[in-house]
Amino acid sequence: MSTVKLTSESRVEATHHVLKPAQPQRLNFAVIGCGSMARAQHIPNLAQLPNARLLTCIDLDEAVLAELRERYHGLKTGQDFHAAINDPEVHAICLATTEQLRLPVIEAAARAGKPIYVEKPLARSLEEVYEIQKVVRRAGVAFCVGHNRRGSPAMLEAHDIFRRHMEHPAPCPWRFDRNSAERPRLSGDGVAGMSVRINDDWYSWKEWVFDTEQAPHGPMLFEMTHFTDMCNWFLADEPQAVIALSHEPFNHGVVIRYRRGAMATISMSANGTFGYPKELYECFGNGGAVVIDHMLEIRTAGIAGAPDRKIYPMIHDRHPAVGAEGGVPGWLAKKRAACQEAAAAGDSNLIFTAEPNKGHAAMLERFVEEIQGRGPVVCGVDEAVLATRVAFAAIQSAKEKRVVRLEEV
Ligand SMILES: NC(=O)c1ccc[n+]([C@@H]2O[C@H](COP(=O)([O-])OP(=O)(O)OC[C@H]3O[C@@H](n4cnc5c(N)ncnc54)[C@H](O)[C@@H]3O)[C@@H](O)[C@H]2O)c1
Repeated sequence: MSTVKLTSESRVEATHHVLKPAQPQRLNFAVIGCGSMARAQHIPNLAQLPNARLLTCIDLDEAVLAELRERYHGLKTGQDFHAAINDPEVHAICLATTEQLRLPVIEAAARAGKPIYVEKPLARSLEEVYEIQKVVRRAGVAFCVGHNRRGSPAMLEAHDIFRRHMEHPAPCPWRFDRNSAERPRLSGDGVAGMSVRINDDWYSWKEWVFDTEQAPHGPMLFEMTHFTDMCNWFLADEPQAVIALSHEPFNHGVVIRYRRGAMATISMSANGTFGYPKELYECFGNGGAVVIDHMLEIRTAGIAGAPDRKIYPMIHDRHPAVGAEGGVPGWLAKKRAACQEAAAAGDSNLIFTAEPNKGHAAMLERFVEEIQGRGPVVCGVDEAVLATRVAFAAIQSAKEKRVVRLEEV
């Protein structure tokens, strides 16, 4: 297994997936699998991105296709993904079926030399993960996995601040420097630590989540790869060992140790509430802190020149007059208002308002830039395989109640 360099510099260098022939200014996409994820994100995003065009939608459900034809004029639709992949007008594929269908579509697209954006998780088994990696590397097609937090404006800025601080630490003028001369010179001085806290509510999960054929590893795979990917990305080190405890499917605690001593802990609880932010990331190192709170705001400390706090715009805000201060306090006020409406109407769908920008649209936009040779690899096959391997190591660790080294998976 080759290792992957994860620094932002090497990501810029790693543009080897760029397709050789000149690419059109706008790439025509075929979306394969038009379920709730695709209809909420990829389809509307492709329809409005400046560098992409929604050309084709493929699904087995004719009612879904009819609804989409109604909505998007001139849309090509069908049930056969091979026909879409082999259509010369289609430049790129967005695969958003559940993970029951991955390799056959990726193989067909790779054969046709067409770039592929695929939803996470990359696959349901490690064997399929490695097979996909082989197919993609052999074909040399551009490939991106929907670890979409890499496209979130808050995450991107926090990542930049944190990596810059880790690579070129600016001394903090107020940091204790007690016994400076006598303090032991320890090799772990400055090494990063990271914590990821996930609050979820399993009452909201779809039925396929409980189908062991469809999702054999539960949230430790289909949710966790987002977070293992974030840990790998922020810590920019090679994961070496994982230990995990789990009470399926409700509680998971995972610790990842990296080659140079960095550590990440991921805590996922599924008996939580949508009334409170879902994701908190806290990164520490070189006497500094970078915190990303639900992709609504970032906070920093001990890093000269970094903003103390920065807030980010929300999406689909139905309550612009409530919580107008934004950030987490603004979001909580908006969410409380929405939850009250939902309770009064007896409709839980009304709780949605002012969502954080989790980067779905930007991932596709940046992937097109990568294909066109104008941007770095966004979340390529090697990075996605690594995140998925860490999740599989956690699954094995929880099952066997022992530390699992990455080379075992
Ligand atoms: N990145 C994220 O934030 C995020 C969020 C939710 C879901 N997801 C991922 O997105 C994927 C889809 O999830 P979903 O909730 O939309 O599932 P879904 O069940 O709503 O949609 C899947 C769709 O695929 C279609 N399909 C199945 N087989 C097909 C075939 N052979 N050809 C064409 N279409 C086919 C189904 O008819 C269905 O419409 C999953 O892998 C999930 O993990 C990602």
